[in-house]
Amino acid sequence: MQIKIAPSILSADFSIMGETVKKLEKCGADLIHCDVMDGSFVEPITFGGQMIKNIRPLTKLPLDAHLMIEHPKTQIKFFADAGADIITVHYKACKKISDSYLEETLQLIKSCGIKCGAVVNPDVPVENIFPVFPLCDMVLLMSVYPGYGGQKFIPEVLEKVKKARAYAVKIGRPDMDIEIDGGVTEENAKIIREAGANVLVAGSAVFKAADTAAAIANLKG
Ligand code: DX5
Ligand code: ZN
Repeated sequence: MQIKIAPSILSADFSIMGETVKKLEKCGADLIHCDVMDGSFVEPITFGGQMIKNIRPLTKLPLDAHLMIEHPKTQIKFFADAGADIITVHYKACKKISDSYLEETLQLIKSCGIKCGAVVNPDVPVENIFPVFPLCDMVLLMSVYPGYGGQKFIPEVLEKVKKARAYAVKIGRPDMDIEIDGGVTEENAKIIREAGANVLVAGSAVFKAADTAAAIANLKG
């Protein structure tokens, strides 16, 4: 299975974002992971659709919009129009609103002609999103509590990765993208890949590295 590395631009210098995105593409990144935070679902505020719109013309890489926001359904059209290739939304943000909100939001993303995914926090069983697996192009398992880069990887998530991969196989989607986000390093990337994750988000591990291309290559294995 192809391993893809998704550097998180949360760890980038926002004043030189355009150059950074071009550099990430040259250095072997597979997706650009865009952490959208609203100051409510998570404490910090990062950026909205304008960032996606501005970096869109600068790279051919898919833009992976990770929406850490309340009421995600209200924002889907803006992010799709801005040029996101995949939008992921949090189970918890949806569940707060209604039992059907997650599925409705995923359907809305698909109706915009782009890929969709569901996200679970470390304390949410992956089984909670099994009902929407057939709808998802990707599932994202958080390996830290969302909000900040540079946190420590929570190893219990590895069991969830295994369960997610086994369930994807069971429903006839063995190649489904399973993304892991938070605390990924060159040291733990191997066990994460072996557990069955194939999309590795990396903020600090890419941006703190002296050699970006080497860091991406090492994460890929
Ligand atoms: C956390 C974000 C992550 C974060 C990862 O809320 O969703 O994408 O940027 O950063 P590192 O790799 O430093 O944990
Ligand atoms: Zn993220």
